[in-house]
Amino acid sequence: MYTLAGKNIVVGVSGSIAAFKVAGWVSALAKAEANVTVIMTEAAQRFVTPLTFAALSGNRVYGAMFAADAGEEMTHIRLAREADVMLIAPASAQTLARLAHGLADDLLAVTTLATRAPVLICPAMNSAMYSHAATRANLETLRVHGYHLLQAASGVLACGEEGQGRLAEWPDVQPFLLRLVTPQDLAKKKILVTAGPTREAIDPARFLSNRSSGKMGYALARAAMARGAEVVLVSGPSALPDPAGVRVRRVISALDMYEAVLAEAADADVVIKAAAVADYRPATVFDEKVKKDQIDTSLSLIANPDILLELGRRKRPGQILIGFAAETRNLEAAGRKKLAAKNLDLIAVNNVKAAGGGFEAETNQLLLIGRDQVAPEALPLVSKDAAAHMLLDRVSWLFRQAARLQ
Ligand code: C5P
Repeated sequence: MYTLAGKNIVVGVSGSIAAFKVAGWVSALAKAEANVTVIMTEAAQRFVTPLTFAALSGNRVYGAMFAADAGEEMTHIRLAREADVMLIAPASAQTLARLAHGLADDLLAVTTLATRAPVLICPAMNSAMYSHAATRANLETLRVHGYHLLQAASGVLACGEEGQGRLAEWPDVQPFLLRLVTPQDLAKKKILVTAGPTREAIDPARFLSNRSSGKMGYALARAAMARGAEVVLVSGPSALPDPAGVRVRRVISALDMYEAVLAEAADADVVIKAAAVADYRPATVFDEKVKKDQIDTSLSLIANPDILLELGRRKRPGQILIGFAAETRNLEAAGRKKLAAKNLDLIAVNNVKAAGGGFEAETNQLLLIGRDQVAPEALPLVSKDAAAHMLLDRVSWLFRQAARLQ
């Protein structure tokens, strides 16, 4: 339900050297089990052959407006109707102009006019062309007409110039495409997610930390973005890339995280604390690296503030507060205790000792415990992305419950 699998995606490729990159996107979509149909403008076929896209998509590629075989004369209407979403990439200056003015002189333009599916446009061109007033005006018109636009990226362009005009990268495009085919049940909700470990400095070279990779929190941020939420991710040091469409605030220590989270939480509708925050930090932080022969073999620690506890104290009516608990035994009892102590609405307990769950793993098995006295919900062992969506299903349910009570 929350993937691109089984979705009908019409990819419109226009004439830009970046067309070769879109071959990789079509391959990724086919691997994700989407049903991809490619339409190429005439200019696009000069850069990449239709055979490339046919082989990668496993489907026939369309180019000509008037097919010779009689059964295909309404191609544009059929493709437009069947599409769950259209992706136009690379969108050349010419294609942007065509679409902005509603011209219907090639198959891509006419299919775009005929579809009621959402359309995502990814421009790519020389930076002077991209910044030209005519292109700017066309982009603005397309926005007003309800098309979804992704900005071109900056960097060295195929023409040798440096500037804005590069085709966006697939990891930045895929989340927006997914959002366009996902039910928007969390639209207009601000969701704050925390992720990753924290680092507690000993001196400029050393720190205390933990095994958290950030994978669960990043999966939650991506899932919430796909479901239409405005997402802020406060992340401790993690090797994961910033998720597209998410505002990311990178922090280092528990104290940094405390400040960032409290500032963002004030107007958040949901706070999900998936970060593994260090409970203690070294009592003294040395300005200079401590020499090996000067190291004291015992380290004295002081407690960090419990961010979630503080959020529970400050919780606004209607705000949903969700904690995570990493446990190794008595999961339900430990979860219920934390839920009450921190004034949470929901706690996700994971057994960090269980196979396939917990730190660094790609999968997780969560036990969800709510405030009500109903039995906890034991989720199956699934990918962290799937676990994230299951947790958000519960958030969505909480919102529906609250709306019913009003
Ligand atoms: O009590 P415990 O640390 O096990 O609770 C875990 C939950 O509390 C997690 O959601 C974690 O993000 C949060 N936490 C926090 N501040 C701390 C420690 C944990 O917000 N200093």
